[in-house]
Amino acid sequence: MSEDLTALIARLDAAVRLGDAAAITQRIKHELEDAIRDRRVTLPERFRRVRPEGYARRLLHRDDALGYTAVVMTWGPGQGTPLHDHAGIWCVEGVVEGRMDVTQYDLVEDSGDACRFEQRGCVHAAVGSAGCLIPPFEYHVLANALDSPSVTVHIYGGEMTSCHVFDPVEDGRYVRRERALCYHD
Ligand SMILES: [Fe+2]
Repeated sequence: MSEDLTALIARLDAAVRLGDAAAITQRIKHELEDAIRDRRVTLPERFRRVRPEGYARRLLHRDDALGYTAVVMTWGPGQGTPLHDHAGIWCVEGVVEGRMDVTQYDLVEDSGDACRFEQRGCVHAAVGSAGCLIPPFEYHVLANALDSPSVTVHIYGGEMTSCHVFDPVEDGRYVRRERALCYHD
């Protein structure tokens, strides 16, 4: 791992040791924004490879003792996620290259079979901007905003091996479905 990434991970370690989700995510947001803006994040080439089938999700770092992971996602033109949750895990997401559209949702009704959401606006996230998700506010849609690849880094307070995605059905309702998450090469 390059020197700049090793230094960033030391800063993430210190942030995670703050212990409280609100404090941790605020600190990580600042660390990511500073590191990206100062061009201290240079990713190995394999993290920048687009997959034609869908966005790529690759593990950058995992610390089992501190209980967090860093994942890089690479988005080709037109690629994005369905509406999804974060399995109750806090997360900070920063844009390293390109631009992302991030649309936040609030869960306003959950009858077990079907859910309703209210859209909370869309952020056009440019390089060097980062956003935090702290459960229960953990529902969003991410999409590449460009006709060229975008790259994002995601710091999770755990390892997200699955989440729920929400498929739109009739009259504005969504059905919840579990989705297993994997890492790509
Ligand atoms: Fe997400």
